[in-house]
Amino acid sequence: MSTEASTTLTTLYASIQDELAGLETFLEKEFAKEEPFIVDLFRHVHRYRGKRMRPALVLLVGRLAGPDGSAMGADRVSDLVKMAAVVELIHTATLVHDDILDSAGLRRNVETLHRRWGERVAVLMGDFIYSRAFSYSTEVDGMAQIMSHATNLICEGELVQIRYRFHSDLREAVYLDIIRKKTAVLYAVACEVGARLAGLGKEECRRLHDFGLHLGMAFQIVDDCMDYAGDETVVGKSLGSDLHQGKVTLPLIYLLRGQNDADRQSLLETLAQPMSSSVENDIAEAIRSCGALKQSFDRADEFLSSAQASLEGFPLELQESLGLVSDYVLTRSR
Ligand code: IPE
Ligand code: IPE
Ligand code: MG
Ligand code: MG
Repeated sequence: MSTEASTTLTTLYASIQDELAGLETFLEKEFAKEEPFIVDLFRHVHRYRGKRMRPALVLLVGRLAGPDGSAMGADRVSDLVKMAAVVELIHTATLVHDDILDSAGLRRNVETLHRRWGERVAVLMGDFIYSRAFSYSTEVDGMAQIMSHATNLICEGELVQIRYRFHSDLREAVYLDIIRKKTAVLYAVACEVGARLAGLGKEECRRLHDFGLHLGMAFQIVDDCMDYAGDETVVGKSLGSDLHQGKVTLPLIYLLRGQNDADRQSLLETLAQPMSSSVENDIAEAIRSCGALKQSFDRADEFLSSAQASLEGFPLELQESLGLVSDYVLTRSR
């Protein structure tokens, strides 16, 4: 992560440091009671923390959107921390399964669970984490339905993505629908859950949901750019594999769009099946050099502007904090 991006995160997290510490304690304590093998697996996944972006959104919105965050009762705070944990656990479970689907070897700077213990263990550990998250969500009024629906959409997004593997002429609208489901929906519900727990009305909850949705779209577009332009040792996960996996993402869609008919036709044929690594390298290089990457970042920026527009009228402190989240989404790739 660049210094600029990590400074942004430090500033952002400073205002919710007690709640974030509460989240870590919650996760540590709850899983420490498990079967030793499960404790080992859980610790492995959390050995290097993720960025905690989604739980941070629950906490930021929950704290700052209410009429007076500081006056929140202890029960409210513990509900917020519990729901922040639920969101992070659902995210973690999706990563464990996603790494199997993507044959990825590195996650959060460590070997992926399936590489270390095999796919059987990783499938079940993902299920274990999901079901534990659902169980916690039933303890907070109205939350189980939101979280189970969101998880359903995440799985749908991943399934549709598989369905369109090697569909080299994938339309931008279909790509956007996939990333909305597999990634943006969880950002949206993180904000919505915070808003509901802060006691906001229907319309405000909807606008914060929209903020999260647009933010999540930008996050995944930037992530897809990083697959072509990021550094594994900085990002801490396997990169450079989307082409090989047949995943058609925005940078590739824009590369194709910028070509003349004959070149596009020949590239579409090349892309419709597994390629040699030298062909993959050439295509990746073209994406980096022809402006497709820059266009994709611009598209992410448009989503961030829509996200910011949803915040009009909310307390300034909330607008500023969520503005920092938006800044982070763009700067993290640099
Ligand atoms: C990775 O999310 C999965 C995507 C949606 C791209 P993060 O980059 O937030 O992962 P962690 O939690 O920080 O490891
Ligand atoms: C996000 O897509 C996956 C999930 C929503 C779980 P990616 O496959 O691009 O995420 P990374 O790059 O592996 O983190
Ligand atoms: Mg992946
Ligand atoms: Mg990715």
